[in-house]
Amino acid sequence: MKWLILLALVGSILQAALAFKIGSFNIQRFGISKVEDPFVLDILLRILRRYDLISVQEVMSSDDTAIIRLVQELNQATGLKYNLLISDHLGRSTYREKYVYIYREDILKPTDWYHYDDDCEVCGTDTFMREPFVVRFSSLATELKDFVLASIHTSPDYAVMEVDALYDVWEDAKQRLLTEDILILGDYNSDCSYVRERHWPMIRLRQDANLHWLIGEGADTTVSLNNNCAYDRFVVSGVNLQNAVIPGTAKPLNYEVEYQLTNDEAKSVSDHYPIEVELREDAFYSGQQFPISAEIGISGGKSLNGVCDCVGVDVSSCSGRCGASASHFACKCNASCTSNGNCCVDYTANCKL
Ligand SMILES: *[C@@H]1O[C@H](CO)[C@@H](O)[C@H](O)[C@H]1NC(C)=O
Repeated sequence: MKWLILLALVGSILQAALAFKIGSFNIQRFGISKVEDPFVLDILLRILRRYDLISVQEVMSSDDTAIIRLVQELNQATGLKYNLLISDHLGRSTYREKYVYIYREDILKPTDWYHYDDDCEVCGTDTFMREPFVVRFSSLATELKDFVLASIHTSPDYAVMEVDALYDVWEDAKQRLLTEDILILGDYNSDCSYVRERHWPMIRLRQDANLHWLIGEGADTTVSLNNNCAYDRFVVSGVNLQNAVIPGTAKPLNYEVEYQLTNDEAKSVSDHYPIEVELREDAFYSGQQFPISAEIGISGGKSLNGVCDCVGVDVSSCSGRCGASASHFACKCNASCTSNGNCCVDYTANCKL
């Protein structure tokens, strides 16, 4: 009997060591000050090393020094070879962020990527404050060898519309990449005051039975002790990818508890917890590896902005233009227009759901 228990124990340890983990983490206003703070850096490395592949949101700076430093530190701490794929600097004003994928370069290879084309920012008809960054990965150590990830960090003010519009991103990705195996991950802002119970029926991403939401409303992905919000999510489609997910493994990582921190210490790292999920390992993985590149930090290129002649766009209306706020618009459609008194007349009717 004893050896059976021992065997089960060894088995579960082996399995834990073999588990292929995907993460998603909004590292609140990530920049050089977090890398240069030894305490914060140590926690970040403990978190990141859990994952074979992680989508990071809120990478602030236009230059990539800080995030590359972080990955170099990760490589030093683990002895592994991580690399990173970095999006354009995305936003509608001077406030901008990048999406970054950090991945084990020996077992994962980004084979295709693009920024979702969400229409014209210059005309204010674009949908996303930070258009999703879509990447296809080839994966050696998992049962499923090919899958697609799409990162999102929605604007909290228009989270309902943006989460709904992720449906279009999904449809577009299926056509472009000819696969259904897609994981849309990131900070959806999809709970508490931003997305309410009454909004779910109007969100196509939630209503379509082909899309599975792995993190439910009961989850808390925020560090704050004052609320309980499931902002960060994994939404998965495709029979192959859904079968590749190990049931019950999708959850927030409460690193405050995991690493025995105080709430203030946890807050010095981020206001979000990462979320994580495991994929099935390939039991017959031969140990084959992808070549390691000489360079660390791969540019994802420029975001598309379509053809923008603005012909036929009514810039005096917020219809289809929620979030539009560029200085050359006579009236605005973003959340501060009410207090600034410069909203277009139909702002509330179109943008306050
Ligand atoms: C709205 O747009 C203005 C620029 O016109 C910007 O200063 C402000 O931060 C924006 N507010 C929000 C909530 O995005």
